[in-house]
Amino acid sequence: MPASPSVSAVSRIAYLASDVVVNSLSPTGPSPFQTALNALASSSDSRAAVTNLPFSANAGDTLLRHRSARLLSYTALAHPQILNHLLLHLPELSTTSTVFHVAVTDDLSDALVLQSSLPFVLYSRTAQQAHDHALLASRLAFIESTAVLHIFHVDDDAEKVEEVDSDRVAPFLFAERQSPRSSEQKSATDPSVLLKTYQSAAFATVALVRRPIRPLVQHGASEPHTVIFTLGRATLDYTIEGVSFVDVALLKPLPSTTVLSAISPSVSRVLVLEQIHHWSMKWTPLYLEVVSAIQQSELDPTPVVQSGVLGDARAISESDVAELVQRAATEAPSTRLALGPAPSSTQTAVSAPHIPKHEAAYTKILANLFSGRLEILNSPELVSLQGDIATTPEFALGRARGELEEREELVAAVQELLRDPDVTIELHSLLSRWLAVKDDGVKSKQVGDELAAALEGEKLSNPAAQKVLLFRHLLPARSRWIIGSDAWSYDLGASGLHHAIASRLNVNILILDTTPYTSRNSIDPHRRKQDVGLYAMNHGDVFVASTAVYSSYAQVLQAIMEADRYNGPSVVLAYLPYTTEETPALEILKETKLAVDSGYWPLYRWNPAKEREGKEPFSLDSDFVKNELQQFLDRQNHLSQLTRSTPEVAAELVGSLGENLKQARKQRAQQAYNDLLTAIDAPPLTVLYASDGGKAEKMAKRLATRGKLRGLSTTVATMDSVSIDDIAKEEIVVFVTSVAGQGEFPQNGRNLAKALNARAASGEKVLTSVRYSVFGLGDSHYWPRPEDAHYYNKAGKDLDSRLEQLGAQRFVPLGLGDDQDADGPETGYKPWEQLLWKALGVDAVEVKEKEPEPITNEHIKVASQYLRGTIAEGLEDHTTGALAPSDTQLTKFHGIYQQDDRDIRDERQAQGVEPAYSFMIRVRMPGGVCSPEQWLQMDQIADEHGNGTFKITTRQTFQFHGVIKRHLKSAIQDINRALLDTLAACGDVNRNVIVSTVPTLSKLHRQAYDFARRVSEHLLPRTTAYHEIWLDKKLVAGDALKDVEPLYGEFYLPRKFKVAVAIPPNNDVDIFANDVGFIAIVDEKGELAGFNVTAGGGMGVTHGNKKTYPRTGDILGFCTVAQGVDVAEKIMLVQRDNGNRADRKNARLKYTIDRMGLDNFKAEVERRLGYQLQPARPFSFDKNIDDFGWTTGEDGKHHFTCFIENGRIQDEPERDFKAGLREIAKVHKGAFRLTANQHLIITDVATEDLPTIKRLLAQYKLDNLSQTGLRLSSSACVAFPTCGLAMAESERYLPILIDKVEKICEENGLRNDSIVMRMTGCPNGCARPYLAEIAFVGKAPGTYLMLLGGGYYGQRLNKIYRESVTEPEILAILRPMIKRYALEREPGEHFGDWVIRAGYIAPTTAGKEWWDRAGGEGQYREVAAAA
Ligand SMILES: Cc1cc2nc3c(=O)[nH]c(=O)nc-3n(C[C@H](O)[C@H](O)[C@H](O)COP(=O)(O)O)c2cc1C
Ligand code: SF4
Repeated sequence: MPASPSVSAVSRIAYLASDVVVNSLSPTGPSPFQTALNALASSSDSRAAVTNLPFSANAGDTLLRHRSARLLSYTALAHPQILNHLLLHLPELSTTSTVFHVAVTDDLSDALVLQSSLPFVLYSRTAQQAHDHALLASRLAFIESTAVLHIFHVDDDAEKVEEVDSDRVAPFLFAERQSPRSSEQKSATDPSVLLKTYQSAAFATVALVRRPIRPLVQHGASEPHTVIFTLGRATLDYTIEGVSFVDVALLKPLPSTTVLSAISPSVSRVLVLEQIHHWSMKWTPLYLEVVSAIQQSELDPTPVVQSGVLGDARAISESDVAELVQRAATEAPSTRLALGPAPSSTQTAVSAPHIPKHEAAYTKILANLFSGRLEILNSPELVSLQGDIATTPEFALGRARGELEEREELVAAVQELLRDPDVTIELHSLLSRWLAVKDDGVKSKQVGDELAAALEGEKLSNPAAQKVLLFRHLLPARSRWIIGSDAWSYDLGASGLHHAIASRLNVNILILDTTPYTSRNSIDPHRRKQDVGLYAMNHGDVFVASTAVYSSYAQVLQAIMEADRYNGPSVVLAYLPYTTEETPALEILKETKLAVDSGYWPLYRWNPAKEREGKEPFSLDSDFVKNELQQFLDRQNHLSQLTRSTPEVAAELVGSLGENLKQARKQRAQQAYNDLLTAIDAPPLTVLYASDGGKAEKMAKRLATRGKLRGLSTTVATMDSVSIDDIAKEEIVVFVTSVAGQGEFPQNGRNLAKALNARAASGEKVLTSVRYSVFGLGDSHYWPRPEDAHYYNKAGKDLDSRLEQLGAQRFVPLGLGDDQDADGPETGYKPWEQLLWKALGVDAVEVKEKEPEPITNEHIKVASQYLRGTIAEGLEDHTTGALAPSDTQLTKFHGIYQQDDRDIRDERQAQGVEPAYSFMIRVRMPGGVCSPEQWLQMDQIADEHGNGTFKITTRQTFQFHGVIKRHLKSAIQDINRALLDTLAACGDVNRNVIVSTVPTLSKLHRQAYDFARRVSEHLLPRTTAYHEIWLDKKLVAGDALKDVEPLYGEFYLPRKFKVAVAIPPNNDVDIFANDVGFIAIVDEKGELAGFNVTAGGGMGVTHGNKKTYPRTGDILGFCTVAQGVDVAEKIMLVQRDNGNRADRKNARLKYTIDRMGLDNFKAEVERRLGYQLQPARPFSFDKNIDDFGWTTGEDGKHHFTCFIENGRIQDEPERDFKAGLREIAKVHKGAFRLTANQHLIITDVATEDLPTIKRLLAQYKLDNLSQTGLRLSSSACVAFPTCGLAMAESERYLPILIDKVEKICEENGLRNDSIVMRMTGCPNGCARPYLAEIAFVGKAPGTYLMLLGGGYYGQRLNKIYRESVTEPEILAILRPMIKRYALEREPGEHFGDWVIRAGYIAPTTAGKEWWDRAGGEGQYREVAAAA
């Protein structure tokens, strides 16, 4: 809605005058105030902080939170659902400097509801008057520290408003409070005292605006017999004999003297016309004022006073007024008169209350669980039929009672029919069946439908039959719910709840608490709804549950279902902390987590039915409960013992229990309040951090939380989010920064660091009033050479000295944390933090509350409603190219990674725009097999949705890059249309199962491939979220009950899980790099007999963190083909239950096995299997690279393995592989198989098709295998520009490095010798670098870790040879090494074995020993690494 002149004028004054403007949004469309305030905020006159509240949010709480503002303004378009909330808070707000600007259209009723609680009420008829009154109201509110109500009209005409200059507003308003009023004066209610106050403010306003401001404006006849007071839009500017008019502009205070001044002795009749159409009370406000003034007067004779409704001003003519005056004389004085028609807008039906969207999180669950039989007894939908009352708990209870009584009648009628001898056997059977199932939600409906149909057919004379048909709608058992939330039925927590509980009816009550944990202290403790739980439990026979959908979805489902089943009242408390409808889901998640973890909002169920069965009635579903609840439970235990021994004493005790609790609660509220006050007095602490990998960020946030728990008022932000000027205003600032790159600041601290450098260089001392301390995180080993030692913790050290140069005072010395210390950076951090608390004088503060844990992936998973999160909503949000951070963790399970273009990240940041977000999509394709049709579709998807290329990955699948959010859904749909999907291609689940590609062994290969498919299908997550979000399959999903994950549970796995199947002698899948491996074993007849099973392989490492290491899998034993799937499942389940969920860096199966011990692990797997694995059978591998070129299989079909460098399918000059493969796919009749080394096999070419395929291969140079052995054995991960973890180039750089290294090989006659060389952009190890003979792992742009000594067929890990090498160093190291290898190797000796024999590097015999002896051996040992 565009802002009208009056709204613009009022908004402007509110904005210029106030510190804070709180605006309630309208039920539909943007509010006119919001439009005006937004326009103001973007203007140069910025002043007030503006808070827009969703339509139904409780503005009272928000206003109270800002009560300390110098001047607070509230704006809203009058609506009962908004203003009725406010009523509760007006007594408290009336002594604050607050102006309520309430705009009305045609009816003042809703706005006038507020008038009784406020001392001043101004009314504006015109936009100009609204402008002047806005000034007057603001001045009154400020000077008198009081609340003022200003009602005005949203005019639709183009009235011109003369506005006061912006720079004159503040001086006018905030002139010294002349004489602070005493508390007695403040509480004065005498209208004449208040009028004086008004007059002095009005006088000042007149001086400013130079227009008259008067409480009443009188015009018309000078000696009237009739006076018409009007409060409403119409200015009745007519000349009617004997009639004068009084336009009221001040409704409160309106002392009788003021009223009487307008009533001359000649007056015999007074008409009071108010523009009030929906006024629900008998007497209207102005009428009351006028009547009481006349009653107090000594007028003789006393004039008759009549009340009337003022209608639409535009339709009122002079003759209407004259006629009214005549009519008044003939009607009885008590008759309500009317002038003009009621405006059309007031005749519309009452609209249903608006329910904020977040609340649907719970109501949807109800709808899903109970679908047809759900009945929300106070549903807002009833409002249009029954009026506002329909949402009250009393109404709902009345309905419930009525329905339950009717159902009892129905049951009695059924029982009576059962006794009727005329009833047929079939009908008898139906009647008794229904009685047996009448409380079962599903069966009662089925049988009930049959029963009703049968009864209709029978035409029985028994009246009971008619009754059953009359109540047929009650045959199905209903699930009856009353919902209490901020949106409607707010008071359910008090009297309504009490009635519901006392009624003992079988109704369920869902109460939503939306108070965010972090603002819990600013809310009146007496109104906290979670005490309702204790209150209800004290009744003994009420089912009570406390739930939080963003903490545990499953617990909510369980609680709601138990509540439904419980025969009696049930109360389900539901936590949903949000402030506005725009509050992002991650914020709700965070708040929920804080509340649940700290015990503020424990999750529990209290089911008295269980107690009756002799079971424990209380189930705690979260870790921690508050003392109050614990005390209750302790007492409850004590009580149940007591009840058994002396029942009469117990009753008394139960009775007094509530009182004690109330007392305890009161004390606690007081304590919370005191704590809050301390926090306000405590010194403010600002924590600023810069972090790339998240360690410094976590530390900074933890520091801020700890500060808060110690009573400091802390804020935490990234360094780049503040300016030097911001810092200069702070008192105490603490910095936490890591180092990223050679001594550089992390990305989110670079700008501030640069600015500090510049200021320091100019010699300015701008931070003299700031006290500071710095904690730096670094790694003394990251740049191990002695000449690079100065990079260690350089950022922290530089920052510390820069701040000193700028005049800031260091109050705690610089603290340094080193990744190399025993406890990592924590070792240095702990003493520094202690010093900090000491210096701030809070070291002795006892921290009572539990420190909330940070949100981890585990929380995100469990709160995601089986991987839904808010992905669907995020896709609809077109204001950003990204998804919410928690959702980006969840999309991984759907095969989707959010990335951004790292090449242009800095540039975009400098431009102030968000990073260039796009998504990587990974397909799930067990065994890497696809048809030519599917290939063509992939090719098209890359063009239509991605960056025009696609990649074959090391897990034998396709990966698309550069898919923007808008294309995400259609890309996934297209992939599914190609009969492939992306589910579980990433995430903490079993990933794409890979299998050796040896098509020449057709039969064996087919069997192994079938097996891989079965494992993949078996280990797939079962959630329907994927279909619901991406494929719009609403019918499949939506039913919450269908979402169970029999294998994974709500938490899924602690970390990713990888399975591979190898067919010796080729180990192209690198079986030992997988969590689970199946090595195919062939029997004497050449048939697949089964598999040797391996477990515990994995690649990922963190630079410098010795608790992390790569590991090769161990062989557990042999299983048959039939047992294989079960073996994979059981290994996965042992990992699910034993993996480390507290530390993702230590969560893979490899660590679990080392922690448990291999024997124990194997025993646990076998225990779950119920049998022992057979001893492993002999096998042998001879390589882990691909066989390029043509081969012919057992069945005579031909296969060609192409070399696709690093798997990238794209068109390049001279190498248009993408186009070539597209042409091949168009004619090929066999299949495509992707290899785990990122190459491609075109399989199953019939002899007659060979010429065509060969021609195409040649045409597109896809048959070019004249590469060196080194290149053919190489492999690189994606890294820059898309991978968010990349520290250095990989896919784009390895081919360039190989150009140089292969020259060395060629010089030494090793052109065709295969040396496995791999590169990755970070230690995550996607291209399995730790198994390569030579490997490079990115550390920083252009710098790599160098590793040597991996086993040629993937059987042995390599080891760090140099901690940091650049290209010249790589070449300098490799040149003599390769030369020696060419000369000294024994026949068939591979490079990886030779470097060990030649003494360059020690062999790695187990993952745990990977770090030992790193840095080379003997004369080749790196000096710094040895230190
Ligand atoms: C790419 C990169 C470069 C680094 N450069 C340095 C460095 O120059 N000096 C140093 O002391 N630490 C260096 N480190 C180590 C980190 O500062 C250290 O691991 C820190 O704990 C990471 O914190 P963060 O997760 O908050 O970024 C580097 C780490 C990475 C990943
Ligand atoms: S190894 Fe690291 S840089 Fe390379 S793709 Fe994997 S995560 Fe990205």
